[in-house]
Amino acid sequence: MNPQFVYRTETEDDFDRVEFLTREAFWNVYQPGCEEHYILHVLRGAPAVIPELNLVCEAGGRIVGHIFYTRSRVLSDGGGCFPVITFGPISVHPDMQGRGIGSALIRKTLARAAEMVFTGVVITGNPAYYGRFGFRPASDFGIVYEDGSSFPALMALELTPGGLSGVKGRVSFDPAFTLIDPEELDRFDAQFPPKEKKKLPGQLR
Ligand SMILES: CC(C)(COP(=O)(O)OP(=O)(O)OC[C@H]1O[C@@H](n2cnc3c(N)ncnc32)[C@H](O)[C@@H]1OP(=O)(O)O)[C@@H](O)C(=O)NCCC(=O)NCCS
Repeated sequence: MNPQFVYRTETEDDFDRVEFLTREAFWNVYQPGCEEHYILHVLRGAPAVIPELNLVCEAGGRIVGHIFYTRSRVLSDGGGCFPVITFGPISVHPDMQGRGIGSALIRKTLARAAEMVFTGVVITGNPAYYGRFGFRPASDFGIVYEDGSSFPALMALELTPGGLSGVKGRVSFDPAFTLIDPEELDRFDAQFPPKEKKKLPGQLR
């Protein structure tokens, strides 16, 4: 672990800098511009957020990494409701990527989540990256997406042995992740330094 990196729990004083970092990390990566900084902003103080798991990484007093956790649920056809947790967005500043900061944020918070007696994590992301932390296709556990679909980017991890056994059904993430008003997003984004939105190969939309 690089000693120049300091990992600590996020505080309210960090919120603006974290949103700035998140915008820098996600800009033009998955779509022209990005919405992840706005999602963080909307979720501040929401009951779904798990502040104890939200970590920042500082280097030389600058916030260069961040991970954000929310409570989510798996809803079974029979009416059962199983609490799980979800991380994302996770951001490392483009200048600092590839130095192990993202991995450290994930490993530290998964260990902390297990100590807090959470039993399972469900996320969406790149299986090539998250597989190295033990994530498996959510379908292995019988967990499908909100609309009932199943795809490799939907992944799950047990934090305790058998932590997801019997947890089957549709995952339900906080609505703030999908119910994004484009005009509100544009108004929010206008508070940040101007950046050009670009349509690039590899973006998801
Ligand atoms: C994804 C992210 C958080 C990883 O942080 P990081 O500090 O760069 O990651 P680490 O240094 O711990 O790990 C680097 C490794 O992850 C791989 N990796 C990084 N991002 C990846 C991605 N989106 N998909 C697949 N692999 C990825 C790198 O290729 C590298 O692989 P290697 O170890 O085989 O060389 C960071 O790249 C980032 O902020 N990206 C933009 C925002 C984003 O995509 N967030 C995740 C959304 S699911």
